[in-house]
Amino acid sequence: MLAHSLGADAELRPLEPWQAPTFAAYVERHRAHLAPWLPWGVSITDEDAARAFLQRYADGTAADGGRIYGLWAHGELVGGTLFRIFDARASLCEVGVWLAPGSEGRGLITRAVTAMVDWAVRERGIRRVEWHCVPENTRSRAVAVRLGMTHEGTLRQDFEHAGRRWDTEVWAVLAEEWVTMHP
Ligand SMILES: CC(C)(COP(=O)(O)OP(=O)(O)OC[C@H]1O[C@@H](n2cnc3c(N)ncnc32)[C@H](O)[C@@H]1OP(=O)(O)O)[C@@H](O)C(=O)NCCC(=O)NCCS
Repeated sequence: MLAHSLGADAELRPLEPWQAPTFAAYVERHRAHLAPWLPWGVSITDEDAARAFLQRYADGTAADGGRIYGLWAHGELVGGTLFRIFDARASLCEVGVWLAPGSEGRGLITRAVTAMVDWAVRERGIRRVEWHCVPENTRSRAVAVRLGMTHEGTLRQDFEHAGRRWDTEVWAVLAEEWVTMHP
């Protein structure tokens, strides 16, 4: 379990299947902002789809796999983060993020992911944390840079979304790099 205060009345805590109505409403409200970058920003169109999506991560949490968190500011769901992959045995994980447009530019995601990487590296002994983004997503890439990650390479035409093929940039930070940056 990870629940973390991000200051200024903002908090990161697990997002669970019972919160599907809130999550479905959030995706609906911010679809235009999320859908260009996140496949689930297209596919979550009702509460059932939101519940199924959250249930996958609830099952992941129960199996010590992927997890999903909501980011609340002043009591409102404004974004979230996830361990899309969390593999303790292989000692690696991959983080994903999103925010409502009105909550960008305050460092909420940088602080949230810092807490997640700290937990993964220091508490769970994860050796490698990955960040995937498309080259066009400059705000996402800026977070990876701010976190001190390294751009390790680009998978060309890696996946299909919104009617075209997209490249995936793979960024990562290793445990020893993280603890050196955050003693
Ligand atoms: C990607 C996304 C989450 C980035 O959000 P963001 O607000 O830029 O990231 P942060 O919350 O870390 O905030 C960083 C900004 O806050 C500023 N900031 C203010 N206080 C800060 C602090 N204490 N620490 C860090 N940054 C701070 C930074 O300077 C930066 O501002 P800038 O955009 O003017 O350079 C957001 O753009 C988004 O949801 N996009 C759509 C979904 C998406 O693309 N998801 C990722 C798919 S790979």
